[in-house]
Amino acid sequence: MAKAIISPLIERGEYQPEHILGIVGNSSSITPVMSDLPKGVKVVSSADSLSREVWNAPLKLLAVKPQQFGKIKEVSPLFQSNNQFPKPLLISVLAGITLKNLKKAFPEHTCVRAVPNTPSLVGEGLTGLAWEDDITSDQKNAVRKIFEPISEIFELNERKLDSFLALTSSGPAYIALMVEAMADGAVAAGLPRHLSNQLAHKTLSGTASLLREKSLHPAELKDMVASPAGTTISALRHLELAGLRSALIEAVVLAAQKSRQLAEEV
Ligand SMILES: NC(=O)c1ccc[n+]([C@@H]2O[C@H](COP(=O)([O-])OP(=O)(O)OC[C@H]3O[C@@H](n4cnc5c(N)ncnc54)[C@H](OP(=O)(O)O)[C@@H]3O)[C@@H](O)[C@H]2O)c1
Repeated sequence: MAKAIISPLIERGEYQPEHILGIVGNSSSITPVMSDLPKGVKVVSSADSLSREVWNAPLKLLAVKPQQFGKIKEVSPLFQSNNQFPKPLLISVLAGITLKNLKKAFPEHTCVRAVPNTPSLVGEGLTGLAWEDDITSDQKNAVRKIFEPISEIFELNERKLDSFLALTSSGPAYIALMVEAMADGAVAAGLPRHLSNQLAHKTLSGTASLLREKSLHPAELKDMVASPAGTTISALRHLELAGLRSALIEAVVLAAQKSRQLAEEV
């Protein structure tokens, strides 16, 4: 996720690669991480003495797994903040880790909670942002500029971020599961595997474009496709009996609950 956020900023010339220092947990990760990062970005492991340098940077992006959060220990920046120069910024993309958790772990920083999603990799992402109270408007603008190239931004009250994440960050996995299952169905009904996968992808992207470009409510589109006594309504009857709709509702609610729970586990 850190690479997905940083790479477009370097490609657009917003940041010079030599001004970025990446830290990974294990030295064995350095080569694979660097393989698809823009040339000139330095990456070191957390055990390398150079990794302490990151704490002097005005802007940090924290993108470890939520379970690894406790291992990150703040080092006071050399630079002393005052009324004129605010504290350095720390942007966390960790699921479930609250601003309160962040403030406690990084008191020398102004913290921001960001919830991006994987379509950010192709510039089609969604990012939810929640600010710490004492953030300046210049700092807010700096954060917006980081996420704008890859995503549409939604500035939300922090209490809404868990629900935002349950839909937008976890959502690509629910949709990928449905696309895979639909392709499996086509294989079961007699189409070759490669063609089934291709058709399932195209059905997904075409449906998304149709909903967006014609501003259709999903129910309108469903009704357009389901003709009386036809094939689609037979399939929809089965999906209702199997509980697909309520399974999806509960999945989003459970993901939001899990996100809230992660904050209590750190
Ligand atoms: N994937 C998504 O769709 C998505 C969406 C929104 C938010 N997020 C959030 O993004 C975060 C990262 O997810 P991801 O999928 O990008 O995870 P990931 O691929 O596992 O990346 C985590 C990175 O953190 C490094 N790391 C671990 N411990 C470290 C330490 N002590 N010091 C420095 N670096 C350390 C890891 O290095 P090693 O591999 O060497 O340990 C790895 O490079 C998660 O908190 C997740 O909640 C993800």
